[in-house]
Amino acid sequence: MEDVYIITGGKPLRGEVILSGAKNVALKTIIAALMFNAEVILENVPRINDVFELLHLIKLIGGKAEFVDKNTVAINGKEIKTNKVDLLHSSKIRASFMLFAPLLAKFKECYVPNPGGCRIGARPIDRIVEGMKSIGLSVEYDHQTGYYKAQINKRLSGHYRFVKSSHTGTELLILIGLLGNDKVVLENAALEPEIDELIKFLNMSGGEIKRDGTKIIIHPVKKLMQKQPFKIISDRNEAVTYATLALATRGEISISEIPYELIKSFSDKVKTVGGGFADLNRERYKFFYQGELKASIIETLPHPGFMTDWQPNWAVLMSQAKGESIIHERVFENRFSYVDELRKLGAEIDYIKIPVTNPVEYFFFNFDPAKKYNQAIRINGPQQFHSGVLTVADLRAGASLAIAAFIAQGESVINGASILDRGYEDFVKKTQSLGGEISRL
Ligand code: EPU
Repeated sequence: MEDVYIITGGKPLRGEVILSGAKNVALKTIIAALMFNAEVILENVPRINDVFELLHLIKLIGGKAEFVDKNTVAINGKEIKTNKVDLLHSSKIRASFMLFAPLLAKFKECYVPNPGGCRIGARPIDRIVEGMKSIGLSVEYDHQTGYYKAQINKRLSGHYRFVKSSHTGTELLILIGLLGNDKVVLENAALEPEIDELIKFLNMSGGEIKRDGTKIIIHPVKKLMQKQPFKIISDRNEAVTYATLALATRGEISISEIPYELIKSFSDKVKTVGGGFADLNRERYKFFYQGELKASIIETLPHPGFMTDWQPNWAVLMSQAKGESIIHERVFENRFSYVDELRKLGAEIDYIKIPVTNPVEYFFFNFDPAKKYNQAIRINGPQQFHSGVLTVADLRAGASLAIAAFIAQGESVINGASILDRGYEDFVKKTQSLGGEISRL
């Protein structure tokens, strides 16, 4: 297979999109479900490559994890027979290191490799390991093998205060907290809505996890038991991609079933640049072009700020807006892989330096003064895009290149389509239903 998308752009996309389940809720609840030691049913699980990778990884350790219907997955951790996770397959998905939790629950000792995922930064797990240690685990890293060894050899309980917000870190410590001898308290925990979905899933199944803002209290649980199938919430990143597609191609797209809170910081920004946004009825929204867009300045932040995953899409949108826009990336240190690709289509984008008084505090990654970073770009718009041959480097960059190709006049080729398949279900079918000319080779 060629692994490319061929997109002929230049016309408005219109219609309605049924959003798929959220990747970053599905992956985490699948892992949490392994702690039940019984069958768990999850509905609305997206059929995307990251989910397939995780199901495969679980099968390799002896667990049951499979689609039993179009979007329903059955998981059972009862038969897990090894406490060591496969290196090659873990390296493909970031969430794989959350397997610490079910393996510790079962074996009290386990081996989990350094995680993979999109190369949007170094993505160390230093703070998470520090958190695991502060609540009583012993964790060692073996540089030779690339594996962490974690062990429960004393009482698990206590406090951990995240020095900076960590989305997956908060989720892993919640799962480990369930194994405690006493309550575990997390402070400065991340506020991402995906975390609250995980909490909801666990609390519906016997867990006792309480959130008070950035403080989360986890009470130990003897047994988790599912009472009814759990439905994965819609994907807010997918919602934003289709919203951007509507605005950038001067079309109109309605998106179904997503709580407003999840897209609020995006739709607020859309309104300020002159994009059309309508609340059709609760949970159904329409994004539409209603005239020339204005330039904007954004900085990415953890929830409830403007999400880092949205900025590649926003950059494409701002290439169609009048004036000079600025994007300052604060969460990851390598999220501009799309810049050179967009330039191939005619975008006018350059890297700029924005002075920051205390970069170590300001950025959410581990800022190293000895290193050079490109954390901000300036986009000059509006620019008419022509077609080109593009290469995808990471998932969200892939979505932005596809949007750019839908704007461009003529036929574009996007290499690395499978990277987009990691997180977008039925991308070809959905964009075709909106009138997009796209095929997958
Ligand atoms: N960080 C550290 N050390 C740690 C933990 C985090 O330096 O121990 C750094 C990260 O490298 C990053 C920043 O802190 O620079 C924030 O990281 P966080 O842990 O919050 O992000 P994550 O859990 O790795 C998740 C999503 C990302 C999404 C971010 C922000 C998953 C699997 N991934 O990443 O989603 O961008 O939160 O919401 O949930 C994607 O879906 O394509 C994706 C990249």
